[in-house]
Amino acid sequence: TCTYFAKAEDGHELWLRNKSATNVNIQTAKKSPVLDIAINELKKGWLGKNDAKLKFEFSTDASIKGDGFRLERSTIKAKTDLGILYGTFEMLRRQYLGKADENFSSNPSYSRRILNHWDNLDGSVERGYAGKSIFWRNDQDLTISQADRELYQLYGRANASVGINGTVLNNVNASAKILTAPYLKKVQAIAGILRPYGLKVYLSVNFSAPVTIGKLKTADPLDAQVRKWWADKAKEIYQLVPDFGGFLVKANSEGQPGPQDFGRTHVDGANMMADAVAPFGGIVMWRAFVYQTSEQDRTKQAYNEFLHYDGQFKKNVILQVKNGPLDFQPREPFSALFGAMNQTPVMPEFQITQEYLGQSKQLAFLSTLWEECLNSDTYQKGKGSTVAACTDGTLSKNPLTAIAGVANIGSDRNWTGHIFAQSNWYAFGRLAWNNQLKSEDIADEWIRQTFLDAGEKAKDQAFVKPVKEMMLESREAIVNYMMPLGLHHIFAEGHHYGPAPWFANTKIRADWTSVYYHKADTIGLGFNRSHTGSNSVEQYHEPLRSKLDNLATCPEEYLLWFHHVPWTYKLKNGKDLWTELCYRYDTGVQQVRTFQKTWDKVHGLVDEERFTAVQSKLRTQSRDAQIWKDACLLYFQTFSKRDIPYDIERPV
Ligand code: GCU
Repeated sequence: TCTYFAKAEDGHELWLRNKSATNVNIQTAKKSPVLDIAINELKKGWLGKNDAKLKFEFSTDASIKGDGFRLERSTIKAKTDLGILYGTFEMLRRQYLGKADENFSSNPSYSRRILNHWDNLDGSVERGYAGKSIFWRNDQDLTISQADRELYQLYGRANASVGINGTVLNNVNASAKILTAPYLKKVQAIAGILRPYGLKVYLSVNFSAPVTIGKLKTADPLDAQVRKWWADKAKEIYQLVPDFGGFLVKANSEGQPGPQDFGRTHVDGANMMADAVAPFGGIVMWRAFVYQTSEQDRTKQAYNEFLHYDGQFKKNVILQVKNGPLDFQPREPFSALFGAMNQTPVMPEFQITQEYLGQSKQLAFLSTLWEECLNSDTYQKGKGSTVAACTDGTLSKNPLTAIAGVANIGSDRNWTGHIFAQSNWYAFGRLAWNNQLKSEDIADEWIRQTFLDAGEKAKDQAFVKPVKEMMLESREAIVNYMMPLGLHHIFAEGHHYGPAPWFANTKIRADWTSVYYHKADTIGLGFNRSHTGSNSVEQYHEPLRSKLDNLATCPEEYLLWFHHVPWTYKLKNGKDLWTELCYRYDTGVQQVRTFQKTWDKVHGLVDEERFTAVQSKLRTQSRDAQIWKDACLLYFQTFSKRDIPYDIERPV
């Protein structure tokens, strides 16, 4: 038995708690490790008629695309083994949710659906809040124990159940050591365990690896020896892992080396690596998260850096772009880069780990954040050019499509630190598979599979409904008590958990201070990015550009992102900015108090272990929400010089 996890109740089984009550007979003309897993899952989880006969059918049906599938009463149809596996998980999910017996087809929105682990080789996880890395311990110990193997199988199974088909095993702030022989051997072993679950392995690479581990004098991407070094390295990797996915690269960003160190461009760097992996079918995911110390508004820099390279990248390069132009804030407008590239494929990068949304202490269902981003209209090719359509091949017809989520997984018994953080892993996978899904449906599925018995309906009113409402409101609550009305990055430096709107350390760069982002003064609050300010609005297409540019038409959730607004400015509800700001912060705190009540009321409807774990986390969240409110309001009050409205809670 696996030594990592002891009891079912503590959440280690995630959303996969189905236990078969009936027998099923599976007919398949083909055998493979992937199909073996599908058969196993059916035997473990089948809830249909006893002794039912089920068939795997390899179909040429043109409506089935990639690893998509079609479910008919007693047949799972697909083109690939993985399609059968994904169809199997869908069939079991539908049985569990009581939705079986209808025909159902589904194709993936993105061909590559990838987790990014920010795992360091010493076992720590950058921005990880659920314990240590499941992949790396330390330099001395690169072995894989039986317990590790079982853990990787559970990990593979969980990912396959939601259609995730790739994993980057190490931090984007990459150590070059990952490319040395002992590490590659472990990568090979991990890839072998994950392969039958359909997970391709990828690695983050350090641009100066040819110098640090290759003993070359330069890492210049146009140097013949450097190019040969990468080509040889790729060959070495593919000999070990023939289906290796490719490289993820953070270059010339936050101190990481990159092509610009040698007077070269991002195109030179990305294409060199693309050439190295191309003979083996690999890809390069080149991150667009770049910015420099300069006078230029940080939120404009990635777009300005990359726009003019459109069309110059090799075919197997894809730009990986964070959902917003800054850095995974509780709310940001979408990054203008999604609607900017005509020829270069662009993939969204979401952050599943809650670096800026309460980490594993707070309950935040992030599906609503991602749905908001995917549904944002870029107007790139007229109305309806959503971020989803710009990235999933609908608009560009580009065959290389992908989406990434920065994982929240660690060695904690419940995988993610907070039981409800499991829902974000789940939601990422579900949206990566189908970017049209609604958060409400994802939450519903997740709650039933995580907390209820198969087909259980008795708890719909008392449990599913209130818990779902809490989840769907949770991200907005955080926006309210941390950064309402378009405020952003007023986090304490370093840990990014608590507030520090006063943070103005001039010893570090101007754009790394909270004061830089909120720009509070006696006149008002907010960053002027309209045409009279940094003009970041110019990066958006019309009619959005004008809408954002104009204070009167800018959506209020982005108001202080795009405008410096006078304290006395009247908002749509008639309240002035200062008053509304106070109410928003207070609303956020009240929302979390309500979450506590909601959860306390479901006592007895969920096992005691998970009940108390969540209850205790909500207490912390409530306390910290109030700290956010008081800190921000008392600080901003020194500029507004106004009283906090008397009908809201006094600062504590
Ligand atoms: C954030 C985060 C860093 C991370 C960086 C990135 O800034 O705080 O830890 O390395 O994003 O995405 O590269």
